[in-house]
Amino acid sequence: MKTNRCMIIDTSKDELELDKELKIVANMLKTGKTVVFPTETVYGLGANALDPMAAKKIYKAKGRPSDNPLIVHISKYDDVDFLAKDISDDARVLIKAFWPGPLTLILNKSDKVPLETTGGLDTVAIRMPSNPIARKLIDLAGLAIAAPSANISGRPSITSSKYLIEELCERVDAIIISDDSEIGLESTVIDMTDSVAVILRPGKIGKSEIEKVLNKEVKLDPSLKNERLAPKSPGMKYKHYSPKASVVVVTGSLDEMRDKLLSKLSDYDHDKIKVRVVCLENRMGLYEPYSVSWGKDSLEAAKNLFKILRNMDDEKIELVYFESLSDGEISEAVMNRLIKAAGKQVI
Ligand code: TXA
Ligand code: MG
Repeated sequence: MKTNRCMIIDTSKDELELDKELKIVANMLKTGKTVVFPTETVYGLGANALDPMAAKKIYKAKGRPSDNPLIVHISKYDDVDFLAKDISDDARVLIKAFWPGPLTLILNKSDKVPLETTGGLDTVAIRMPSNPIARKLIDLAGLAIAAPSANISGRPSITSSKYLIEELCERVDAIIISDDSEIGLESTVIDMTDSVAVILRPGKIGKSEIEKVLNKEVKLDPSLKNERLAPKSPGMKYKHYSPKASVVVVTGSLDEMRDKLLSKLSDYDHDKIKVRVVCLENRMGLYEPYSVSWGKDSLEAAKNLFKILRNMDDEKIELVYFESLSDGEISEAVMNRLIKAAGKQVI
């Protein structure tokens, strides 16, 4: 049995009690401690972004390579001018349009931001989350908070409080437990240090939405389309999001996916190997009793993806097939995470 050494705050408490506890946790952040907190994308593992020792604690808690930079979370617009310099007009347009929300901007860093936070880079990733508890915590601490996704490096991001304590309680100083993450996929990361904006990590805020706001073309980092190219965002090169189960992505038209899966399912000795097929709700009938609902559409699939990956481990599933999604831009972000979880096993 593990011994929990971290403080746990449950946000379902009444407001007065919660405010008191959030103040205690905010003070912990001020003294260089690590705190897991909810955001609208995924849970984050935070510490003071301007304190090199605190940033190092984040890397240690996650077992994260030190060249993989952290995202700095703020609650006030002015903070971006403190943390970054040479901010372009386009970057300001995106800030106005999408903050608070799931968009992270890569900007040239000011000398206030230590290299420990940026993984040695001269640029800094900044976002203003919309989750009210995250905002309140950052406000109370009066700090910029560096926070990667709250999971052990290489494991799926955590979107459901169910997994926080067992994975992180022995590694951090406090955990704030709240509802399931509203979006369920990490923020879109966009590099704004050049005249042409480049999306380094896809997310809920898609390319066309950004192009509409900027009224100009935006690029996708070439490595998103060609896996042989090195990604510009250091975090995108690591194996990611992997559950213990073997994950396979199934591609093709709806009929092709059905045919491939029905033939695979008929090959297995189901007493010997535990297999599941994850698909949208309207396709579940095809694969009973092995189907798992991914939700009604890609938006729900995004919200459910990491929870399903972790749930497969809880249920000791050995092999899990995912049908590909192709309805809209968010499905590209979902598929980006899924292909990583599958370690490129695609049929
Ligand atoms: O939604 C999110 O972004 C969540 C929540 C907690 O805010 N955070 C998150 O952090 O996903 P993390 O560390 O898991 O992913 C940050 C990504 C990594 O791929 C990292 O390499 C990239 O952002 N990144 C951070 N700073 C960068 C920089 N200066 N240049 C390029 N990429 C950067
Ligand atoms: Mg992460």
